[in-house]
Amino acid sequence: MQIFHTAPQMRAWSRAQQKAGRRVGFVPTMGALHTGHTSLLDEAKRRSDTVVLSIFVNPTQFGPNEDFAKYPRTWEADLALAAAHGVEAIFHPTEDFYPPGYRTQVTVPGWKSVLEGDIRPDHFDGVTSVVTKLFHAVDPDVAVFGQKDAQQALLIRRMVRDLDFGLDLVVAPTVRESDGLALSSRNRYLSENDRRRALVLSRALNASVALWNGGCRNPSEIIAVGRAVLAQDPPDTLDYFTLLDPDSLAVLDADGARQNPCILVAAGRYGTTRLIDNAVLGAVW
Ligand code: PAF
Repeated sequence: MQIFHTAPQMRAWSRAQQKAGRRVGFVPTMGALHTGHTSLLDEAKRRSDTVVLSIFVNPTQFGPNEDFAKYPRTWEADLALAAAHGVEAIFHPTEDFYPPGYRTQVTVPGWKSVLEGDIRPDHFDGVTSVVTKLFHAVDPDVAVFGQKDAQQALLIRRMVRDLDFGLDLVVAPTVRESDGLALSSRNRYLSENDRRRALVLSRALNASVALWNGGCRNPSEIIAVGRAVLAQDPPDTLDYFTLLDPDSLAVLDADGARQNPCILVAAGRYGTTRLIDNAVLGAVW
């Protein structure tokens, strides 16, 4: 397994692979790998001849009061998991990935401030900008993202289409613990009690999904059923539990909407840990 720290080194390797007729698959991550990430690596492997993993805790997507400094960094364990899942190259940029004087941003106007973007201003600009830099460095034929970060995946899909990145974007399903908790690098911060309470998120999503009848014709009803489940054991703060139209990113909370498919999205805080989760209704990806 090769490790590259600069974009030119990484790009030279990818281009050599492509010249040799190999399709390059890519999974961008911030490390602290778990089974959710390894499922993305496995998906990338199925769709390509060689897989690149990037590990970079991107400072520009964290707000001033967020957990950049304490975000888990588990380099040795990440290397072992990457090797076990057949990764051939790791891109691990150093801090100078952002050169002195860095100013440029890639932004998806409007969409960057919906729900998650409203609560985390600048977050999505940080994500779309760093993913652009990672795509330029790795130059993949196919990139795999997790549905767990559904809004992120929708913004990146829009960006890839709008700016002609010329790669296939794949969104792979969320991996869950057997009790329904969506895997996340941040789950390790949950106390035992908060972890138990957080199960209400997936229960609420499931209750709403059960009401779906093949189209998002009754958004307020679908949302109300899930919110009623949430109310049985509410998070300390509920940021949102609502439906999104994946094509317009409009929030669908009124009856009469005819969008199909759509995405149920949820976010809440347990103690100091903020969790997000979602469920797709119909063929979103
Ligand atoms: O989903 C993540 O881990 C990050 O947002 C990403 C896509 C690697 C960009 O830093």
